[in-house]
Amino acid sequence: MNNDIKTICCIGAGYVGGPTMAVIADKCKHLKVIVVDLNKEKIDSWNDEDLKKLPVYEPGLKDLVKRCRGKNLFFKTDIKQSIAESDMVFISVNTPTKESGLGAGEASDLKYIESSARSIAKFAVGKTIVVEKSTIPVKTAEVIKTILISSQKDLRNESAESFTVLSSPEFLAEGTAINDLLNPSRVLIGGDSETAINALADIYKNWIDEDKILKTNIWSSELSKLTANAFLAQRVSSINSISALCEETGADISEVAKAVGMDYRIGKYFLKSGPGFGGSCFKKDILNLVYISKFYGLNEVANYWNQVLEINKWQQNRLTTIIVKKLFGTIANKKIGVLGFAFKANTNDTRESPAINICTDLIIEGANLSILDPKVDKISILNDLYKSVLKKNNSIEVKNNIEIAACYEQLASGSDAIVILTEWEDFKNIEWQKISKLMRKPSWIFDCREILDINQLRESDLNIWKLGFGSNISNIT
Ligand code: NAD
Ligand code: UGA
Repeated sequence: MNNDIKTICCIGAGYVGGPTMAVIADKCKHLKVIVVDLNKEKIDSWNDEDLKKLPVYEPGLKDLVKRCRGKNLFFKTDIKQSIAESDMVFISVNTPTKESGLGAGEASDLKYIESSARSIAKFAVGKTIVVEKSTIPVKTAEVIKTILISSQKDLRNESAESFTVLSSPEFLAEGTAINDLLNPSRVLIGGDSETAINALADIYKNWIDEDKILKTNIWSSELSKLTANAFLAQRVSSINSISALCEETGADISEVAKAVGMDYRIGKYFLKSGPGFGGSCFKKDILNLVYISKFYGLNEVANYWNQVLEINKWQQNRLTTIIVKKLFGTIANKKIGVLGFAFKANTNDTRESPAINICTDLIIEGANLSILDPKVDKISILNDLYKSVLKKNNSIEVKNNIEIAACYEQLASGSDAIVILTEWEDFKNIEWQKISKLMRKPSWIFDCREILDINQLRESDLNIWKLGFGSNISNIT
């Protein structure tokens, strides 16, 4: 069957489409792999000679692109031609939360899925397997099928195109995407057609053991993706809720997480407390689950999952309040250094980053921020903060109170506090004794990612507040 599939294309050259197709191209040299997007600027960046300019930062991605681009991996804007020559089309477009209309604020906006399906219906030639890679509400395959089938009817002839729709949600996490794609815990394929399922499975079998390829009905596959993200996010909210209790009682969240996680029924992963989960998916996917549950009249289910989001919001607000309280109840005109802006380490993605909310609240309280992130560019940080501050309080002038620091020294100089919001490895090697000398006294470090070794800093003149740590050091009595 694999021999029938010669060319595949992926609609959407984002954080999923780019890395996923780069891995497939590298592992399946017999396939021609095309990644196609409406956004010309993004495609130009994917084609840039300078691999540092790829639109997605992921460890290992540059090497894959270098090896395959122009050989069997192509980044294009020509949607018509790309679909026409493909035997299999992946849909990896964004599925954000709807901003207006029916279901606004909860339901997924399927406009990009619909336009992709319409493009496939219009441009496909012959038999085409359509693979949903985007995360979508359960039952979306029905929408895609309906669009594709109506186009077949339009043609009313024997040689009409024929389509099969599969669901194969992507489980990669940003920052570890290449490793996740190379060594997935499972590949999920849902569908009705055994032939089509096997055709997709044959691609993955080029590097993944068959027993890791799970074949299900299409609705189980769609719902499993939302459920997996909801369970992961729920663990983060659970541990974050306990972090607050640790601070009150003298317990240490890292010790609690270790003790709890050693129970094999609970497991040790995803129990790191922090400033709340960010990223483009957890919030939107849980909102989607909440919406679907309400749609089916399951209000208790909806309320249960909504609470995971409530705790996440609460954790971010709680951190801002702690910072303001520790700095004598006011941060107006004080300089605060912010280490990290990405929603997690090893990515340049800032979507739904907790740093956006926390920085916004600090700015609204009157602080001047100096921000440093190793991979997020200045324009992204400024855009995110301009938009977010404007949304919360349109009377605040943002221009002069954000600086993008070029080095730790610039960030620390004259600042009253430094807040660690992303767990970048580099931040673990900061020489705090040196940094401390540049700060205004009394100076505070707020470690919201549990990266500081507090024992090494006991003798310093820094006041340390570490998330979920009940024995924080304060030199101020
Ligand atoms: P993204 O925003 O990075 O990329 C989506 C791309 O699709 C954009 O470049 C956009 O221009 C393009 N696009 C939209 N409509 C198009 C159309 N009609 N024709 C051509 N291109 C079009 O999004 P992403 O982070 O890659 O996520 C894509 C999907 O995968 C989402 O449903 C998401 O929930 C899911 N997902 C994301 C991740 C992740 O880590 N980011 C992981 C697993 C699943
Ligand atoms: C997540 C899932 O892990 C992927 O399996 C899924 O494919 C993807 O969403 C998606 O559907 O988009 P991602 O959001 O890229 O991946 O990154 P995660 O590692 O899950 O982290 C999400 C957020 O939770 C980050 O802000 C991270 O800092 C936070 N987190 C994670 C914690 O605070 N503690 C943890 O223990 C783990």
